[in-house]
Amino acid sequence: MNKGLQRGLVIVLAALSAVLLVLLLRIMTAGVDGQGLTSGEIAIGGPFQLTDQTGKPVSDEDFRGHLMLVYFGYTYCPDVCPTELQAMTAALDQLEVDAVQVQPIFITVDPGRDDAKTLREYVTNFHPTLVGLTGTEDEIAKAARAYRVYYAKAQATADSDNYLMDHSSFIYLMSREGKYLKHFGPNTPPDDMAAAIRKFL
Ligand code: NI
Repeated sequence: MNKGLQRGLVIVLAALSAVLLVLLLRIMTAGVDGQGLTSGEIAIGGPFQLTDQTGKPVSDEDFRGHLMLVYFGYTYCPDVCPTELQAMTAALDQLEVDAVQVQPIFITVDPGRDDAKTLREYVTNFHPTLVGLTGTEDEIAKAARAYRVYYAKAQATADSDNYLMDHSSFIYLMSREGKYLKHFGPNTPPDDMAAAIRKFL
């Protein structure tokens, strides 16, 4: 290897090291920024503008002063949504009179089929104070994004109105100020949910 080539290699290696150092510093800085999340503020939830089962416009601010139990799903869901909404209902029943401090909310991820009337009939199957919310595709997408909820139309059958939705299934407990407190994974026993809610009453 001649001297010129050696010098060239040294320069290239030095440049590469500098680039790596800059990248490493960026990653470390990002890590420091990321730690802000451990201070208790978790970015789940946020403002939404939707329509309730009576056709009335509703925003997240209408529920201030109540703890919110928020669940995203759809009325045609064959099993997961009814199971989770039943669990929510059972947990609220266990809270007895204190249940008035908690507003259960069901937000559809299938606004194409879940209009106010469909939601009105559906919510009667669960807790008497359950609010059903729908909206435009955009409004629903915005609310779902705020709550980090994934949803998508599953493959439609020959009948295009007969389809399933894939969706994540978490029940979110939000504070009286609309801030994230806690979430419950699928199949959380109502006893556990009620006990967790009680800590915030
Ligand atoms: Ni479902």
